[in-house]
Amino acid sequence: MAKVIIDGIEVEVEDGTTILQAARSIGGEVTPPAMCYYTKLEGSGGYCRTCLVEVSKGSEKDPRPMPKLVPSCRTMVQDGMEVKNTTSERALEARKGVVEMLLVNHPLDCPVCDQAGECDLQDLSYDHGGYNTRSEFERRTFEKQDIGDKIQLHMTRCILCYRCVKVADQITDGRVHGVINRGDAAEISTYIKNAVDNDFSGNMIDVCPVGALTDKTFRFKSRVWFTKPMLAHRDCDKCSGKTTIWFKGDDVLRVTGRKDEWNEVEEFICNTCRFDKKKVSDWTIEGPKEVSRSSVISANKYKNLEKPKEFKLNDIKRLDS
Ligand code: SF4
Ligand code: FES
Repeated sequence: MAKVIIDGIEVEVEDGTTILQAARSIGGEVTPPAMCYYTKLEGSGGYCRTCLVEVSKGSEKDPRPMPKLVPSCRTMVQDGMEVKNTTSERALEARKGVVEMLLVNHPLDCPVCDQAGECDLQDLSYDHGGYNTRSEFERRTFEKQDIGDKIQLHMTRCILCYRCVKVADQITDGRVHGVINRGDAAEISTYIKNAVDNDFSGNMIDVCPVGALTDKTFRFKSRVWFTKPMLAHRDCDKCSGKTTIWFKGDDVLRVTGRKDEWNEVEEFICNTCRFDKKKVSDWTIEGPKEVSRSSVISANKYKNLEKPKEFKLNDIKRLDS
């Protein structure tokens, strides 16, 4: 076991735990944001640099501070380590720069983007970004691409976090998409615009932190804050069948995996549950889904919906009475 202090709070974790996971075990503000790391995807993390922290004491044996900021998702804790996240001016300033870099090419099309309201980049830029951009260059743009008949790739919004590539590598068999080219020209592609024809390909949508990969069966149907997420399950021979279904009125608009407080899917679900089961009768409904992470949909207002009271003439009060 290793004892580590993060922003003045001590926690004891197993050896081999990353700083990010140690911070998550404390929870709250102490936890650095993460745009590319994903607990269930092996080898994820290390791409986006949003999780940078300052290590002010390396360990009990070697107390020297680490000279540079380190990515907390890839750096293991040491016994006696001291880490600064929200208490480090350097880390907060660097994070501002990272957000600015992520937004250099990301379009500000939130008003028309399906991810708005549950977009990690939107939340990140409000929580950790600056107010201005210094970039005067045109943002790079791409044509929209279909990845199969149910998923649309809007590469213009992609932040190259590699999560979807890891899903394709680790959850589906026969991966036919990845990152091609490098630097400014890097893009997610199916190489020859192959359809991703696999039972679990829809999970790429759930792991995408921005609106680059969207569900074509849900696109433009509703803003997410007008929908009501409910936990539901069904007997499925391909996955656990445990999902969140999103209602508008009595219609099931979309089906997604269940996400935890870090916005990570608890169990990956199959495409049949996700795309083909859109009738209420397909599901056993368990109850409202609590959205605990910081987001516009976490107000959970839908849980206590009251019918509007019936209007009676006597209720009208004259303004001057
Ligand atoms: S498409 Fe989404 S999940 Fe894939 S690399 Fe881009 S941002 Fe990440
Ligand atoms: S979450 Fe650590 S580098 Fe992206």
